[in-house]
Amino acid sequence: MRSVLITGGNRGIGLGLVKKFVQGTKFQPEFIFATCRDISKATELKSLADSNPNLHIITIDLKNVNDYKKVFEAVNEVVGEAGLNLLINNAGVSTKFTRLGLVKEEQLKDNFAINTIAPIMLTQNLLPLLKKGAKSQEDKPMSVSRAAIVNISSVLGSISQNDSGGYYPYRCSKSALNAATKSMSVDLKENAILSISMHPGWVKTEMGGMQAPLEVDKSVDDILNTLHNLKAEDTGTFLQHDGKSLPW
Ligand SMILES: NC(=O)c1ccc[n+]([C@@H]2O[C@H](COP(=O)([O-])OP(=O)(O)OC[C@H]3O[C@@H](n4cnc5c(N)ncnc54)[C@H](OP(=O)(O)O)[C@@H]3O)[C@@H](O)[C@H]2O)c1
Repeated sequence: MRSVLITGGNRGIGLGLVKKFVQGTKFQPEFIFATCRDISKATELKSLADSNPNLHIITIDLKNVNDYKKVFEAVNEVVGEAGLNLLINNAGVSTKFTRLGLVKEEQLKDNFAINTIAPIMLTQNLLPLLKKGAKSQEDKPMSVSRAAIVNISSVLGSISQNDSGGYYPYRCSKSALNAATKSMSVDLKENAILSISMHPGWVKTEMGGMQAPLEVDKSVDDILNTLHNLKAEDTGTFLQHDGKSLPW
């Protein structure tokens, strides 16, 4: 793979993925793009970029869809005609304590803005680059190294596995993201762009909390292993970090 872009690359799972790409674990991308909202708080990401010239930081608040063209321009300037190979829509938010009697309209809007609207609209903006990525590697079969969209979803977005209720903003926004993954897989098959939803596991991050059983390092190692093995027939699937298939 020549190039990868990860949103929310300043902490948690996003930062874990950036570190692995920089180290060259499983993939050795020539260009790594990581987005963050506030560079002054992205200390670890910044120091990684200072010592790795192939890591490019793009500052964006993903709520501002009108700024997505800046992301396109920043990536385009570096990758040129070779395009972008892998887009990982990782940035996410989760509003907790949202039983039916308590959930607020603002919480629903906020979770949909980041977990659903941002991945769809960013994918739309970067699509010309993903198409170029797929075309420039025409000799390869469909794979993450050729062109792919990985939407970081959650098992909480699985409708058929929901047996505990609640979590309206998060569950609904991730179920909707899963629907988008499926449509992308259908719409982009002819362009040889693969699209999957990925549940990273319950991971020790600010979102996952300290009681989570999985360390970031283990989750991202598993994710990269699974991505490495993806083939054409995997497009439009919902997988967890270790490659196990999840029901929609
Ligand atoms: N941890 C888990 O157990 C778990 C389980 C299932 C799924 N997931 C999914 O995995 C992904 C990563 O989660 P995580 O655990 O690493 O969460 P995290 O540690 O809370 O990190 C969330 C990331 O999203 C970014 N983000 C949030 N709102 C943003 C906005 N408006 N604009 C730009 N970036 C924004 C954050 O940036 P700031 O630092 O600027 O806020 C941060 O980089 C999410 O999609 C999450 O839903 C996590």
